[in-house]
Amino acid sequence: METLRHIVLFVHLIGFAVLFGAWAVEAVNRRYQVTRLMNYGLLVAGVAGLALAAPWGIEYDLNYVKIGTKLLVLIAIGALLGIGSARQRRNGSVPPAIFWSIGVLTALNAAIAVIWR
Ligand code: HEM
Repeated sequence: METLRHIVLFVHLIGFAVLFGAWAVEAVNRRYQVTRLMNYGLLVAGVAGLALAAPWGIEYDLNYVKIGTKLLVLIAIGALLGIGSARQRRNGSVPPAIFWSIGVLTALNAAIAVIWR
């Protein structure tokens, strides 16, 4: 069970890497677009995160305030991705505040995951 949990955590991290990596590629290339890969990363991180939110394969208590906060941040990122891609379809570009918030909130969720105990 513990090994399975570690595998789900690994999948969760792949989702995070895909979301943040896809965002970083756009930022570095100064394209500031929302891409499909960001949605896939969010979906993978979200599904694996929900699986990890249940207390299985561990001998310690989970911090549900922390997990709830991460869920809220994930929902906010999802909303921004949705609004951003709608704007992109209509105007051809994503408002900078939306684009930068996606990256900052993704980094924030990783920071919450590793710093908040
Ligand atoms: C963009 C969204 C997210 C990012 C970037 C992210 C990032 C991370 C990272 C880097 C870790 C590893 C930290 C560690 O093990 O010390 C982690 C673990 C974890 N995440 Fe997330 N996460 C996200 C969304 C979520 C969501 C939505 C949930 C649940 C509702 C969640 C639940 C968990 C749990 C429970 C762990 C700990 C696993 C364990 O200790 O067994 N995550 N997350």
